[in-house]
Amino acid sequence: MTKPREAPPRSRRSGIARRPPSSPTPPTRLEGGFPLGKTGRTHPPLGLGLWAMGRWRPEDEARTKATIGHALERGLRWFDTAEVYGAGRSERILGDVLYRAGPTAQDAWVVTKLSWEHLRTAQVRPSLMGSLQRLGRSRVDLYLVHSPDPRVPIAETMAALETLWTEGMIGAIGVSNFSREQLIEARAALRKTDVVVNQVLYNLFERDDGDDVLDYCRKEGIVVEAYTPLARGLLAGRYQSGAVPVGPARSTGLRDRLEELQERARRLDALAREAGVPMASLALHWLARRGVAPAFGASQPAQVDDVLTAWAARPTDVVLSRADTIARGDAD
Ligand SMILES: NC(=O)c1ccc[n+]([C@@H]2O[C@H](COP(=O)([O-])OP(=O)(O)OC[C@H]3O[C@@H](n4cnc5c(N)ncnc54)[C@H](OP(=O)(O)O)[C@@H]3O)[C@@H](O)[C@H]2O)c1
Repeated sequence: MTKPREAPPRSRRSGIARRPPSSPTPPTRLEGGFPLGKTGRTHPPLGLGLWAMGRWRPEDEARTKATIGHALERGLRWFDTAEVYGAGRSERILGDVLYRAGPTAQDAWVVTKLSWEHLRTAQVRPSLMGSLQRLGRSRVDLYLVHSPDPRVPIAETMAALETLWTEGMIGAIGVSNFSREQLIEARAALRKTDVVVNQVLYNLFERDDGDDVLDYCRKEGIVVEAYTPLARGLLAGRYQSGAVPVGPARSTGLRDRLEELQERARRLDALAREAGVPMASLALHWLARRGVAPAFGASQPAQVDDVLTAWAARPTDVVLSRADTIARGDAD
């Protein structure tokens, strides 16, 4: 079994243990958040997702690290990664940036995910150990089951996770891409703790998964995290020109409805201009207004700034209601 990295990592050049650099000015934190089950902790309101951090070539690593570092400086504390992102590269990059950030990153909220290929009892512990080693931590704040696999009983995975939770290696247990029924099954399998988060695809254009679980989660005090909150940039003003998106946008169901969604995106853009807020503000606050916590993606520091500007601008309920109507394809 692999041991998590407890000791400071060693410099590749000298082999000498590195000291985390100090940071004299703590950044401003984002306000708000959600109670995290019965843990007594608060789930941050907005997070940076690091799926893309594993997709870039090694020569893009400096930009990737700068993006995470900038997010930390700007007060973001929730970082969402997974063992499958870049086959561990995303976790490794995050671990490195957090380590180098020293005290600034002390209160980072680190979330990673157990791959859908590792849901058997014998696979769960080695998977977590691998993640901890890459992250350079002895525990994660939240560990999510990335996605269920119908071939593996949910109860089997949850029991293995509960053991790790009991040992203190997981601050809290969550799931991702679980339907309401799967969520109920997962909770029933836990004896000493509960599922505190369900992370699902949720944005103005793609609502089915989120709508399916939202009421249940609200009632049961489970935080709903939204992934792909900006529809891969379409809800932040990208891809409105009719050009076929390249890169990550290709991999979503958005591509199949692109023309129709582009038209709606243009109308949302016009609404945002009229309301005097950035377009991404509609996307993020539509989720926040529902009590959902968005984990957005960014591939460069400027995108982090844009998203935080959008987060700081608060559209009125009337504007959000009009955005909801437009995004559904109804007349405004
Ligand atoms: N649990 C799951 O199964 C699951 C699945 C998918 C994602 N996730 C998590 O959710 C996170 C977010 O997902 P996502 O990356 O699909 O989310 P997203 O926030 O909808 O899209 C992020 C992309 O939008 C573009 N973008 C961001 N800010 C922009 C701006 N200001 N202007 C224009 N474009 C902008 C960037 O594209 P470019 O990089 O191309 O510039 C960025 O990579 C992931 O990183 C991952 O952590 C989880």
